[in-house]
Amino acid sequence: MSRTLPVNKNDYIDVVFEDITHDGAGVAKVEGYPLFIPNGLPGEKAKIKVIKTGKGYGIGRLIEIYEKSPYRVDIPSEEKHKYGGCQLEHISYKGQLKYKENQVRQVLTRIGKLEDVVVHPILGMEEPFHYRNKAQVPVGEKDGKLIAGFFKQRSHEIVDTNESLIQLPEVNEAVKVVKEICSELGIPAYQEESHKGVLRHIMARYGKQTEELMVVIITRTTDLPQKNKLVEEMVARLPKLKSIVHNVNSKRTNVIIGEKTNVLWGNEVIYDYIGDVKFAISTLSFYQVNPVQTKVLYDKALEYANLSGEENVIDAYCGIGTISLFLAQKAKKVFGVEVVPEAIEDAKRNAELNEITNAEFAAGEAEVVIPKWYKEGNTADVLVVDPPRKGCDEALLQTIIEMKPKKVVYVSCNPGTLARDLRILEDGGYRTVEVQPVDMFPMTTHVECCAWLERK
Ligand SMILES: C[S@@+](CC[C@H](N)C(=O)[O-])C[C@H]1O[C@@H](n2cnc3c(N)ncnc32)[C@H](O)[C@@H]1O
Repeated sequence: MSRTLPVNKNDYIDVVFEDITHDGAGVAKVEGYPLFIPNGLPGEKAKIKVIKTGKGYGIGRLIEIYEKSPYRVDIPSEEKHKYGGCQLEHISYKGQLKYKENQVRQVLTRIGKLEDVVVHPILGMEEPFHYRNKAQVPVGEKDGKLIAGFFKQRSHEIVDTNESLIQLPEVNEAVKVVKEICSELGIPAYQEESHKGVLRHIMARYGKQTEELMVVIITRTTDLPQKNKLVEEMVARLPKLKSIVHNVNSKRTNVIIGEKTNVLWGNEVIYDYIGDVKFAISTLSFYQVNPVQTKVLYDKALEYANLSGEENVIDAYCGIGTISLFLAQKAKKVFGVEVVPEAIEDAKRNAELNEITNAEFAAGEAEVVIPKWYKEGNTADVLVVDPPRKGCDEALLQTIIEMKPKKVVYVSCNPGTLARDLRILEDGGYRTVEVQPVDMFPMTTHVECCAWLERK
């Protein structure tokens, strides 16, 4: 017999929020039954409407707050578009940092069973706005007019906006100007439902130190109407432009970038500096979006690696070699591995650019390349990993356990998979010495961590 739920759909009830989920919703419980309510903050008393009930949990909508959290900030509705749907826009920055730090501690305990691990206070930004060096803006059409901005939360409806408070002003300006030009030239927007039309996304990337701008025009069709005029106008109106790229994504997919890339004007890369290391960045390569906090994060990784100049280091998931080249300045030799071949080309070019001769790079999956190296008799004294959100592949973790590097530095953008992987490494003979959370993405729920592990 199915259990009767303590609430029903369409009920109006009073609750007290106890917690906040990893995606920023408030959590309230009725007789142990959890309800997730977007916008609710821990400690707040509120009236909610139950809009959905499932076996394990329900979803509600906030109707009225009786007692507000001291961390709540009220954003006037006419300002909301500037936050571009950031999940934590309603929380003060102090509150966001507290929430992210707690989240890291809770997840390490709950998933990683790491009750005693030292988690340092999160390193936040002094100025938590206008930090992103990259925008990827969906384009659509409304009432016959070209629009571009961001997707409304949990929907495919585009909110038209020219300003994002988390993007660098140069990035905002680039998107606005390209949108204007495409509109003037009558380039048709992509229509998701019918999979017709042309212009899908405008992407802009800006090197904060070098002041170099790249714009990528992403279309469904191989043909880009008014191509020459578009390039001419962009060059005339965007003085910091160094590269215009056309990318074709003809598939019905949520993935933004497609497979065909063609430089329309200028260079195929832009450059930027992190600290005093110079990087070439191409269209398909991963490059951290918050240059200020990237330096903070990499300095921490370098501190944890504690290199003397005698070590062989492996940097798994190395992207364009950013962490590898930082490490190479203090190590005997660094070997970077990355799955995107273009990023490896960038990494090699970056080593040359900085006259770093003790770094080598290989294209391939970390979980395939590193076990192969190990079988061939190659080991590392220090191993650094910086995987995507899904964390490290099991095969890589097993190889680390067998290879026994003295030290592992784990850079992570997802505390959940970090906790899972730390537990596997702990069970395989490592001790997590400490974890440093870094706020790379203010106003959003994302949090980055750097963890230091030693062989027991
Ligand atoms: C979080 S990024 C880190 C990049 C780099 N360390 C940095 O800070 O710029 C993760 C990188 O892992 C790469 N990647 C994803 N899956 C991979 C795999 N199985 N093996 C190697 N690299 C992979 C992605 O292309 C991306 O460049």
